[in-house]
Amino acid sequence: MKSDIQNKDDIIKIVNLFYERVQKDEILGHIFNEIAKVNWDTHLPKMYGFWDNLLFQTGDYKGRPFPPHVNLNQIFPLTCIQFNQWLVLWHITINELFAGTKTEELKQKSQQIKELWNIRMDMFNAPLNT
Ligand code: HEM
Repeated sequence: MKSDIQNKDDIIKIVNLFYERVQKDEILGHIFNEIAKVNWDTHLPKMYGFWDNLLFQTGDYKGRPFPPHVNLNQIFPLTCIQFNQWLVLWHITINELFAGTKTEELKQKSQQIKELWNIRMDMFNAPLNT
């Protein structure tokens, strides 16, 4: 039986497996590796802190998560295609490793952020109706 997410070590397991998959993914891999040229040594610890803070209010993340995506969107438009794939991979990874109340909370919160960001990005990319 799977256990629930308990702490940052569990978050680290999810994030590591997720980004291994992201890098091999047909829709997302090239965006991270070739377009954004992400430095994984700095990106992964940031992501551990972001999700740990979101789930356990640890104060481990104090950044502004949306702006890097606006910058990326200027060189590679982020649409529902990328956002949906991001969420599918994220949820598959979480479900594979954990189950329980915190696990459901993580999935729900990530879905909410993804939906909000997707709408905000669509607004950036919409042609002006003037
Ligand atoms: C649409 C697919 C997405 C792509 C292609 C993408 C790509 C990126 C890239 C290239 C960065 C900058 C990495 C770096 O240089 O350190 C980044 C940062 C980040 N992303 Fe995403 N992302 C996506 C969706 C999401 C979603 C849905 C979330 C949250 C629910 C998220 C959370 C974050 C956070 C927290 C950061 C760190 C921001 C900071 O620098 O403080 N991303 N992402």
